Amino acid sequence: MSTKTASQHSIVLGVSGGIAAYKAAELVRLLTDRGHQVQVVMTDSAQRFVGPLTFASLTGRKVITNLFGETDSEIRDSSIEHIDVAQRSDLLLVAPATADILAKFAHGIADDFLTTMHLAYTGPVVVAPAMNTNMWRHPATQSNVAQLAARGVTIVEPDAGDLACGMVGPGRLADLEQIVETAEGALEGRTRTDDLASETVLITAGPTQEAIDPVRFIANRSSGRMGYALAREARERGARVVLVSGPVALTPPNGCEVIPVETAEQMHRAVLERLSESTIFAAVAAVADYRPRAAAPTKLKKHGEPPPLELEPTPDILLEVGRLKGGRIVIGFAAETNDVLENARAKLAAKNCDLIVANPVGSDTSDTGFGSSLNQGWLVDSTGEATELPSMSKREMSARILDKVVHLRKAVESSRSSR
Ligand code: PMT
Repeated sequence: MSTKTASQHSIVLGVSGGIAAYKAAELVRLLTDRGHQVQVVMTDSAQRFVGPLTFASLTGRKVITNLFGETDSEIRDSSIEHIDVAQRSDLLLVAPATADILAKFAHGIADDFLTTMHLAYTGPVVVAPAMNTNMWRHPATQSNVAQLAARGVTIVEPDAGDLACGMVGPGRLADLEQIVETAEGALEGRTRTDDLASETVLITAGPTQEAIDPVRFIANRSSGRMGYALAREARERGARVVLVSGPVALTPPNGCEVIPVETAEQMHRAVLERLSESTIFAAVAAVADYRPRAAAPTKLKKHGEPPPLELEPTPDILLEVGRLKGGRIVIGFAAETNDVLENARAKLAAKNCDLIVANPVGSDTSDTGFGSSLNQGWLVDSTGEATELPSMSKREMSARILDKVVHLRKAVESSRSSR
């Protein structure tokens, strides 16, 4: 499966020495899969955790490990290499970034290739810290991070969770897809805005699971990536975010309140409980339309005829929110295998949405939609007008959806004030 995007960039990936250094190999794969050229630079301590050969094999390029080469000619070449690499690349990304590298960047120390290149570099810089919780929380680290952020460096905040050192708390390297999305945002010059600061966004994401018996269920291929990307984008644009999530294997975005659910019934209940505080509702979840009428109390045994599976409809959450809409902006999604726009427009009208994201799904579009990090389709508004969304990351698509929401909000406010 190819996931290449149109815009290819040259990225220097700095790997510094922490237990998360091994995750940089997967990061290289994600970046190269998306068409970027990656030059890996490793610090001395990073090489104690992973060998340069791993990155050389993945990128097909020599990994830079030294400020000075071994031989005379290497020394002559290497002395200007950091300037040359700095001039040739579109982005400097450091993942994982240790407390040490953050301190060196903050204070302009240049004692190896990575730190020297950092000083010679004038393009965008993104750092993804990973370290022990106490080191991350230490005032020295926090002050270094604040200095870097004030200087325009983008920080991909570490996730909270179980750390390799046995502690629990913030310090784990952020989700790799979040790092890629942030890096691509920096490459596209996307600047942070707070244009959703007055909004509370309620989002459903992921699949639902409807029990057949205690061990089996009906579900679907939704990974939750689209809903989580929308949550992350809304949060970074200043919104308060409540994410009602079916069972997924994703790290929740920082700063979002997550309500885990399993079934359509639970998702329905959670949405109705939190609806009154929301100003925007986005139904991204792939909710089961039907569930077994009664789940068997014990595991079904294989003997004789297969047992009949009688189904009943689940509550249609989006339909109900559309009825209770009030002043909120309601966004639906439509996963369609055929007549995509026609079906999406019908759903938009039937469920009283302001916007619907129509995404083609099925074997022809296996690179996008369910499970993929990419999506494509159309953004249809209540006049029926459709804007094409070509294949792009789910984060980028989320940004396009929320741009439209901001536009709708402004249109409502200006029509109110002109009355
Ligand atoms: O999770 P990913 O792997 O990232 O994949 C993303 C996605 C393909 C799941 C997503 O982009 C998407 O299309 N979500 C909606 C899928 C879907 O179930 O569409 P639908 O046409 O069946 O439903 C239409 C709308 O009604 C959806 O907004 C759905 O959330 C909502 N609905 C449907 C049934 C139901 N009982 N309650 C609902 O709220």
